[in-house]
Amino acid sequence: MGKLQNKVVLVTGGTTGIGLAAARLFAAEGAKVTVTGTNPRSVEAARKELEGIAEVVVSDAGSSADIQALAGRFAAEGTGVDVLFLNAGVAKFGPITSLDEAAFDDSFRINVRGPWLYIKHFAPLLRRGGAIVVNSSINNQLGMPGSSAYAASKAALRSIVRVAAAELSESGIRVNAVSPGPIETPLHDKLGFPASFAQALIAQIPMRRFGTADEVAKAALFLASDDASYMTGEEIVLDGGMTRV
Ligand SMILES: NC(=O)c1ccc[n+]([C@@H]2O[C@H](COP(=O)([O-])OP(=O)(O)OC[C@H]3O[C@@H](n4cnc5c(N)ncnc54)[C@H](OP(=O)(O)O)[C@@H]3O)[C@@H](O)[C@H]2O)c1
Repeated sequence: MGKLQNKVVLVTGGTTGIGLAAARLFAAEGAKVTVTGTNPRSVEAARKELEGIAEVVVSDAGSSADIQALAGRFAAEGTGVDVLFLNAGVAKFGPITSLDEAAFDDSFRINVRGPWLYIKHFAPLLRRGGAIVVNSSINNQLGMPGSSAYAASKAALRSIVRVAAAELSESGIRVNAVSPGPIETPLHDKLGFPASFAQALIAQIPMRRFGTADEVAKAALFLASDDASYMTGEEIVLDGGMTRV
């Protein structure tokens, strides 16, 4: 019997990286998994990788219309939803003096407004005993140069977790966050930083390596499952000790 046996699970941004690893792990634990993404190439690749494991749906995690349409789809199926892993996110880095407004707006549209809209439109579908897990970041508490939009968006998301946990508690829904440090996923290639940036990060990590998507997926599974039945409003930091020792 899996930890998510027969649970209905939605993973946003499940086409690559942490979301893809979580989709695989949740399905292996018995869940009926749907993942979202937007990039035609990653959606296509994920459909192949997740064939027979999870359904891949094109849906923009920052679009109110797309989120409401997806909620409508689940409502029409009438099964309810047990777990939301609000994982989709973007990282736009650059000093405040040169980062453009579009990068700031996109960060908040996808990393903050999107999860808020998911909670808004999916809360009525969530069954008692269900869980929401969001993917924040250790940047929610760091002053890392170049991270202003990303860090602020992840801090806002961390804050929403506390409020949503309070608001949904009487409905029997727990709301928690995973907050990873540097994890080996396509996100870092998208940033386009030189290899020296990764080396500089590793030098700040006591465990001297990036984490893996699977390591974060396991923490998300814990928070999504009954193993974390007395946890809400909390955050699990996975950063090889970077902000902890
Ligand atoms: N990697 C790290 O070091 C790290 C550290 C801390 C926190 N995180 C957080 O972990 C989460 C997952 O990131 P990752 O590292 O796994 O990176 P990733 O491989 O780039 O994954 C990002 C996922 O989000 C999806 N996505 C992006 N914009 C979207 C949108 N508008 N609508 C729907 N899906 C969208 C992408 O799908 P498409 O490309 O198909 O749209 C992809 O599946 C993010 O929230 C990130 O901030 C990552």
